[in-house]
Amino acid sequence: MNLFHKALAIAFAATSIAVVSNAMADEQKSPEEMAIEYRKGAFHMIKYHFGPMAAMVKGEKEFNAEEFAKNAEAVAALSKFPGNGFIEGSDMGKTETKAEVWSNMDDFKKKMETFQVEAASLAETAKGGDMAAIKPQFGKVGESCKACHKEYKED
Ligand code: HEC
Repeated sequence: MNLFHKALAIAFAATSIAVVSNAMADEQKSPEEMAIEYRKGAFHMIKYHFGPMAAMVKGEKEFNAEEFAKNAEAVAALSKFPGNGFIEGSDMGKTETKAEVWSNMDDFKKKMETFQVEAASLAETAKGGDMAAIKPQFGKVGESCKACHKEYKED
């Protein structure tokens, strides 16, 4: 090995170590940090499917019954997930969750259940493809988001 090759080998080894330790740093997130990322991720997915439905209900986007039903189905399924991310001690850090969640956990869970029930009902209604029936049920889902955000999410 000449000097050039040695230098190259050292540089390569240093890069590998940096890559590995970056990956490890990621794994070293605390359970609380991971829970915060998890619930935010779940809400992002919910929003992704909720947005197009809102646009159709408002008439900003042309109503497509099949697309609407798919989005309603996705929100109903995803509604089961964010609750898992509100673990004890995850009220600090990069979060907009108010600490009241943990002092009013029963109420918080009830609000989450209301959301799940209304979202499941919307998925059922949406199968019918009738906007006149969909609109009020979509409204109930929207209310369930707002009711919880009002109490438990920083604006
Ligand atoms: C039972 C309570 C509850 C319900 C129901 C709820 N949310 Fe949330 N949502 C929260 C809380 C708390 C946060 C703050 C999360 C955090 O930052 O830790 C949040 C955050 C979000 C965020 C921001 C995510 C981020 O990256 O900061 C979006 C978007 C969102 N919610 C959309 C919705 C929509 C849309 C619905 C209804 C279809 C909904 N939420 C229903 C409690 C709720």
